[in-house]
Amino acid sequence: MCGIVGYIGNKQAADILIDGLKKLEYRGYDSAGIAVYNGEKIKVQKYKGRLSVLEEKVKENPVQGTLGIGHTRWATHGAPSDINSHPHSNASGDIVVVHNGIIENYMELKEELEEEGYTFKSETDTEVVAQLLDYLYTGDIVETVQKALTRLNGSYALGIISTREPDKLIGVRKDSPLIVGVGEGENFIASDIPAILKHTKNVYFLENNELVILEKDQVTILNKKGKAIKKEIFEVNWSIEDAEKGGYRHFMLKEIEEQPKALKDTMTSRLLEDQDQVILDQIKLGKKELQNINRIFIVACGTAYHAGLVGKYAIERFARIPVETEVASEFRYKKPIVDEHSLVIVVSQSGETADTLAALRLAKEKGARILAITNVIGSTVSREADNVLYTWAGPEIAVASTKAYTTQLICMYMLALHIALELGTISVEFFREIRDALKQTPQMVEEILKHKHDIQKFADHNFNTNSVFFLGRGLDYYTAMEGSLKLKEISYIHSEAYAAGELKHGTIALIEKGTLIIALATQQELYEKLLSNMKEVKARGAHVVAIAQEGHEEVKKVADEVFYIPRINDHVTPVTIIPILQLIAYYIAVARGTDVDKPRNLAKSVTVE
Ligand code: F6R
Repeated sequence: MCGIVGYIGNKQAADILIDGLKKLEYRGYDSAGIAVYNGEKIKVQKYKGRLSVLEEKVKENPVQGTLGIGHTRWATHGAPSDINSHPHSNASGDIVVVHNGIIENYMELKEELEEEGYTFKSETDTEVVAQLLDYLYTGDIVETVQKALTRLNGSYALGIISTREPDKLIGVRKDSPLIVGVGEGENFIASDIPAILKHTKNVYFLENNELVILEKDQVTILNKKGKAIKKEIFEVNWSIEDAEKGGYRHFMLKEIEEQPKALKDTMTSRLLEDQDQVILDQIKLGKKELQNINRIFIVACGTAYHAGLVGKYAIERFARIPVETEVASEFRYKKPIVDEHSLVIVVSQSGETADTLAALRLAKEKGARILAITNVIGSTVSREADNVLYTWAGPEIAVASTKAYTTQLICMYMLALHIALELGTISVEFFREIRDALKQTPQMVEEILKHKHDIQKFADHNFNTNSVFFLGRGLDYYTAMEGSLKLKEISYIHSEAYAAGELKHGTIALIEKGTLIIALATQQELYEKLLSNMKEVKARGAHVVAIAQEGHEEVKKVADEVFYIPRINDHVTPVTIIPILQLIAYYIAVARGTDVDKPRNLAKSVTVE
């Protein structure tokens, strides 16, 4: 998983490429590089490390030229190094390639090319593509790329330039995202919209196996058969500010604070105060379709999986249909019992996660109805699903997902309510209770965020801990899982989420004097039980911090510290507790000095399995 960008026009390509790569660093950041055609040859500059390293080197050694490609890498084949960084070239350096994805048969191709006398500098699969283009060159670069594609297995978004035809920039995609930005006298390719938003709001989304030829004044898109096709231009309605930091130190904090708006936007036009229904016209999941469904699966990865667990709770509780929530990488290999009577809900912020996509395709193949919950219009998931419910969270740049998660929760609740209403498993009164509670969440989250400095103080006292346990029961357990993931991924502190009642079946052995416990106690029906679990760890010397709903005074007698959330219907507390856990993770990570927006070993969009 990497980010690629390409430019052809009249301006200096290097600046545009580096600027574009900055917006794509969330996709990977262990090395970066650019290749610019200077009118004579293609100059490649690429370095291990963050983009800032490349930027400095390019400043010291500028390159003039109006055609170029760039890449920010998250290593798959070959460790991060200058040599393994992209762009990669053929031996004479006149064909240059950037790549996002994995060429699965690269070893076989490499051996074949070696037999033909080709030698390789890097350990990457991408260098094989550059050399293959050289080997297959027919005198026409587009034809050569088409020929090469028939030899490649795996996933790729490729950007290709060549001194042999320097008036062209070629892009092609299969199972890795690639968009085309259409400007005036200039055109772009990129892995994602923010990379080009400064220059144009007009984009094409390439489909699998489509190839694009960019010239300064022209964009030609060819389908798999090589036939020129017309596509509709999509006009992006985000502002650049939406995709940039807006004065915040980190995207993560900005995105945490954007949650009230994101929640509101996600409910707008779907949950109306005076209507006893959820307006999900585009979903086409009425009584008739629902009666044909006997199994529901929710499939996702990471944070989106945690949203799926809450989805299971909501659908089972409200609609009384059994739901299985599965991690996508497990689902796809377990021969799931899925057929035309199954509804498979895939949840993915990016809409590009490889395992989630593979699960979607597998379920589709088996005849299941696919409903996607995603944040990115035009993403592969959104295009391949039968129906899409968008989370209107806006661009999420920080690697740690925050506003995408809470808006996924809202979608899950809306969907559960819709199914339940259609099937008649809830009363109008119950619907109104939950609807009104959901409508209250933006304002409550805003209230909670006003107290962020108390959470910062807590983090400043506790950032040196080396292990944290998150405890919860029922819905609180799912929120605990998400809180624990947030903390470990950005602070690098070991943490675990435990169903509070399960702790004494082994894990309690790890509790000793001073162990930090974050106990979620928002569920009335499990409240007393949770208090007992808190007492159990307290008796072993743990430092217990509780999160409870206002008015629950007893918790103060057991916990060392309490954060209160405003009183709300128990069913929807995951939406209002998680901002506290996000802020705990954020401020602890800041205090530890980690790279909050780009934690080590991670990337925003996991497009490899
Ligand atoms: C954690 C996080 C990841 C993603 C996961 C799925 O903060 O962001 O766990 O949730 O990689 O990504 P999407 O939702 O894009 O499919």
